[in-house]
Amino acid sequence: MIILSVESSCDETSVSIVKNGKEVLSNIVLSQIDIHSAYGGVVPEIASREHIKGITMVFEQALKESGIDRKDIDLVAVTNGPGLIGSLLIGVNAAKAFAFSNDIEIVGVHHIAGHIYANAIKEDLVFPLICLVVSGGHTELILMKEHYDFVKLGETMDDAVGEAYDKVARTVGLGYPGGPIVDELAFEGKLNYKMPNISLGDSYNFSFSGIKSHVINLVHNIQQRNEEVNIPDLCASFQETVSEVLVSKSIRAIKEYNAKMFIIAGGVAANKGLRNKISKRITNVKVVVPLFEYCTDNAAMIAIAGYYQYLKNHKTDDMSLNGTSRMVLK
Ligand code: KG4
Ligand code: ZN
Repeated sequence: MIILSVESSCDETSVSIVKNGKEVLSNIVLSQIDIHSAYGGVVPEIASREHIKGITMVFEQALKESGIDRKDIDLVAVTNGPGLIGSLLIGVNAAKAFAFSNDIEIVGVHHIAGHIYANAIKEDLVFPLICLVVSGGHTELILMKEHYDFVKLGETMDDAVGEAYDKVARTVGLGYPGGPIVDELAFEGKLNYKMPNISLGDSYNFSFSGIKSHVINLVHNIQQRNEEVNIPDLCASFQETVSEVLVSKSIRAIKEYNAKMFIIAGGVAANKGLRNKISKRITNVKVVVPLFEYCTDNAAMIAIAGYYQYLKNHKTDDMSLNGTSRMVLK
């Protein structure tokens, strides 16, 4: 089964062609990071305009690189939410136009299902599994008892973990997106700054706004005393506290639900500090982390999720398919 997929929920315009939910024949990702970094974050209106400019070229390149003729495509899969509405609409309408003009069925796919299924490129998923979703917009612990069956055990009550990373980076002037920079600097620093307790007890929920405000206040206090912030130490202290809470709640969920596999998903899954802690601490179940190139937004993951979604329910959408900024994963 050959699926052409489209992802445009935030600031990456991406089209991919994937065979049988595993073999990535092409995965073109046009990133807008350089444009948005001047503003310190994604500007939604600019993002949708850039998607319009890039989408046709990305389609053409994905088709060319895959060597696949459009008449051999069996299904079109497109992210229809959640995300920035203006951005989603470009991908959804481009996907609908392609599907309609080539007489191919179309399915809308949840963006987070895509991040989760990025893991299936490397390994076949084994159930029950626990998935830690950590992105710029989401932080969730999910239980999957079978393919395309998602039970949310907990989620962030406020900021997503990627959002907290980006805010910390911004507070000390590290640029956007801050996550990867904080991650690099954390390896040069020591745990010299005390961070608040963000464990929320036995709950599977998370909260990152407290630690974010703590870092902002800490930096302002140091600056008011005309002292220097030790940025690597700050990054190390922040990263240790955040990764500890993510990993310890994951371990508890793995035990409680007798999981056979643990996977991580989303942009923050690229975090080396988090990956190190996972490989040291989670040793009793099979751990899968996505390949780096499939951690941040890309269309290949949407094709794979679309494949398993279709296998499960054999449902397709019609031309009324639309983008939805908020959407429950189910
Ligand atoms: O999944 P993603 O590409 O977009 C959303 O769906 O949100 O995630 C982007 C987020 C950004 O907040 C970025 O700072 C963060 O992932 N990120 C990282 C790392 N690489 C990307 N955060 C921490 N460490 C990293 N190495
Ligand atoms: Zn994402």
